[in-house]
Amino acid sequence: MDVRSTDKLIDPFSVDIDIDEGIMKRATNHLVRKASDMRGHYADQAALERLIAEKADPLHYEVFEVPVPEKEGHLMYCISTLQPGQVGEECFMTKGHYHAVAATAEIYLCLRGQGYMAMKTADGRWSAEPMSRGRMVYVPPHWAHRSINTGGEPLISFCVYPGQAGHNYGDIEQEGFPKRVFLRAERVVIE
Ligand code: F6R
Ligand code: ZN
Repeated sequence: MDVRSTDKLIDPFSVDIDIDEGIMKRATNHLVRKASDMRGHYADQAALERLIAEKADPLHYEVFEVPVPEKEGHLMYCISTLQPGQVGEECFMTKGHYHAVAATAEIYLCLRGQGYMAMKTADGRWSAEPMSRGRMVYVPPHWAHRSINTGGEPLISFCVYPGQAGHNYGDIEQEGFPKRVFLRAERVVIE
């Protein structure tokens, strides 16, 4: 295809990322999820309500993007920054999703922090890969994925995935993940 005759030709560009703070500078999309956005995701719902009430609905995670066209051929990318903390004993985590185009993969390069990438398939397979600075997690096509912060500092990742992938939150909200990650007496427990 001659891209010069389509609307697909965009100009090259670059962005600045503060790797330590987990911020994409001059991001045009900045998604903020607070504790109250996480209702229904944690095992201990009363503990989540206490956190919202007692800590003034604290920041949970952020996603920074300078978006590209959501089309095949492009690579969408973002910085995902998940705060440290627990809801009861359960470690802070993202909602998690399948991609709307399920047959699309994703790469997470961890820049800071400690945690796991929990992954599952619709037919019941489950996996958790550790995340720490310099570690890359490959999320294959058809695997739902959620990051979980087990450390005491933000868990920061650079994510790259196909432009057309999109997000499907509904299916994983229905299914849930088969295992959760807890901190008990300073030990990580996955069960
Ligand atoms: C994109 C992706 C990440 C997440 C981000 C927030 O496909 O996997 O950028 O979107 O870590 O998590 P969710 O989207 O599950 O709220
Ligand atoms: Zn994804």
